[in-house]
Amino acid sequence: MAIEQTLVIIKPDGLIKSLTGNILSRLSETKLIIIGAKVVQVTDKLAREHYKHLMDKPFFEELVHYIMGDVHHTHRVLALVYQGENAIAKVREIVGDTNPEKANPVSIRGAYGRITTSGVFENVVHASSSPEDAEHEIKLWFRPAEIVGLVYPMKDVVMEKVIEQEWA
Ligand code: TYD
Repeated sequence: MAIEQTLVIIKPDGLIKSLTGNILSRLSETKLIIIGAKVVQVTDKLAREHYKHLMDKPFFEELVHYIMGDVHHTHRVLALVYQGENAIAKVREIVGDTNPEKANPVSIRGAYGRITTSGVFENVVHASSSPEDAEHEIKLWFRPAEIVGLVYPMKDVVMEKVIEQEWA
């Protein structure tokens, strides 16, 4: 079986409901390893790119606000990259169906997700659906230096006049 990578995002509802520890414990049942992790303040651009396959859906604008944290008044998510054999299916199994009402009740989304009155699925976590999606999403959310180990081919780029912030 192939070694895969998958992107997991603990969404704003997962964070404000104090589910982080619980979700990480559930995911540790997979015995996959974490090769990247960071707290991210999701920009409008990142939200729209991440969900661009849903651009034409009536709930798209609300979905963008949700992942940015506007709905839960916490502008952060926790992004993680898991790696191991069959990682995508193993994580999706524990995460559960997109629709929290259809998800297995013992899955993360089945146990903690909800459907808002306007019909958006607040389903606590994101998990990549295929190796192609995982590669696209990991490259969108993480820079090569933020991931431990060689995951995808990299290239050297000479940077000129780059201003970075240091501790004052
Ligand atoms: P999608 O990429 O189809 O599913 P998944 O997150 O399981 O890969 O949808 C992205 C998010 O959009 C989903 O997690 C919740 C939201 N969504 C809705 O609110 N309503 C819907 O009918 C669908 C399909 C998704």
